[in-house]
Amino acid sequence: MDQTVNVALPKGRLGDNVYEMFEKAGFPSPSIKETSRKLLFENDLHGVRYFWVKPSDVPIYVERGAADIGVAGKDTLLELGPDVYELLDLKTGNCSIVAAAPRNFRDDKRKTLRVATKFVNIARSYYSSLGRDIDIIRLNGSIELAPLLGLSDVIVDIFETGTTLRENDLEVLSVIVPISARLIANKASFKFKNKKLEQIKDSLRAQVR
Ligand code: PRP
Repeated sequence: MDQTVNVALPKGRLGDNVYEMFEKAGFPSPSIKETSRKLLFENDLHGVRYFWVKPSDVPIYVERGAADIGVAGKDTLLELGPDVYELLDLKTGNCSIVAAAPRNFRDDKRKTLRVATKFVNIARSYYSSLGRDIDIIRLNGSIELAPLLGLSDVIVDIFETGTTLRENDLEVLSVIVPISARLIANKASFKFKNKKLEQIKDSLRAQVR
């Protein structure tokens, strides 16, 4: 069986940080740092093959076995609920999912709360735990605009530095869940490539701050 380990990395700043961890852990693929549009990088010497995918697609690649392992934000894992193993908290990409609203917001419990978010499942389960009726407005980005234009009452979104909320006159109502990047593995790969995947996990663990 081919023991090359296929690794799905999330494209973007988080992916760059995470690749550095893999490199320091002893699995470099230097050409990955060249700025190009290339998406697939092999390193025969270390038996790894990296590819860049859209962050929210990482769990799909891993669940279906196109990648043996990958790195995904806990937000994506909670939202999609993929059937994968979560091997390690990489403790990078730290942020939270919060509920937020305009500063003058007062919740009128007699009305259905309109919630704009791309985290539909997380928002549903949070408000259901509060017993609050909601109407979900699914958006793909610029979520903060929704309450400013009267499209929603509140939002459920990522909070990292707080800059986006502040600059749009919104404030946190509650922190729903803390988020960080996780190393995930395909269940069959974890069985059949166990030694190599354990080795990668242990080397990465040594890089976790
Ligand atoms: C994310 C998130 C917030 C922002 C939070 O947006 O949706 O808008 O970052 O970060 P902050 O607290 O540091 O300001 P992203 O840049 O991913 O774009 P999006 O609008 O497409 O979601």
